[in-house]
Amino acid sequence: MTRILAVTNQKGGVGKTTTSVNLAAGLAQSGMRVLLVDLDPQGNATMGSGVDKRTLKASTYQVLLGLATAESARHRSESGGYDLIPANRDLAGAEVELVELEHRESRLKAALQSLVSQYDFILLDCPPALNMLTVNGLVAADAVMIPMQCEYYALEGLSDLINTIKRVRQHLNPKLEIEGLLRTMYDPRNTLAQQVSAQLQEHFGDKLYATVIPRNVRLAEAPSFGAPAVSLDRECKGSQAYMALVGEVLNRKGIAAPA
Ligand SMILES: Nc1ncnc2c1ncn2[C@@H]1O[C@H](COP(=O)(O)OP(=O)(O)OP(=O)(O)O)[C@@H](O)[C@H]1O
Ligand SMILES: [Mg+2]
Repeated sequence: MTRILAVTNQKGGVGKTTTSVNLAAGLAQSGMRVLLVDLDPQGNATMGSGVDKRTLKASTYQVLLGLATAESARHRSESGGYDLIPANRDLAGAEVELVELEHRESRLKAALQSLVSQYDFILLDCPPALNMLTVNGLVAADAVMIPMQCEYYALEGLSDLINTIKRVRQHLNPKLEIEGLLRTMYDPRNTLAQQVSAQLQEHFGDKLYATVIPRNVRLAEAPSFGAPAVSLDRECKGSQAYMALVGEVLNRKGIAAPA
């Protein structure tokens, strides 16, 4: 069974893309067949996977509007070891153009149907907004992974996201689950981070991943090499944390992580 995970948080810069590319590469290193879909006009997941967003013939934009099939838009991330449906700023136009179309919330789900069975995991890197692109991600997904920074406003934004997930569940995708909340860019010496982390633990219990992603400069440098950090430097603290996350994600799917 394929597991489709939407990596979502409407807050910007919380580590969605870093999580998407490293999880994709880490799962691939563990022998999983992985597809990453870039749902963000910024195209950061595309560049971070080593695919040039400026030279795309077909991308998520064409796929959503029915101008290209998912198969024909598919690229290979050689550095990451996974397949990628890339995106660039064309996708910003999709928001407006989708409004005119029927079943506009389920375009991605329909487009992916033909290749779902080729993968163990499909990851959807969502943009920092609760817009039609994110809704397409939530409708196509089995579950949501929420990266977040442990800071004061994090919890406030979380309730908007949880409400959106509830609405999508009611109207469009009843089986949508919360896969987990992931603490990113974590600094254990920061007292506020500790407090927010404790609150998350209290509210979300085992929905909170035990793995915590530390602030690590290797994770931030990796995109400039067009490769996920877990492919470039498996030993750095950030990569080790993402590989531990891979273990948790595999466990939740009932697969024993390789040693
Ligand atoms: N654990 C980390 N340690 C250090 N830097 C990080 C870490 N995670 C992410 N970063 C850096 O923080 C910035 C934001 O991360 P990222 O692009 O993954 O967030 P995002 O949620 O996808 O952002 P956006 O909302 O714009 O799509 C990037 O420059 C990234 O390299
Ligand atoms: Mg991003």
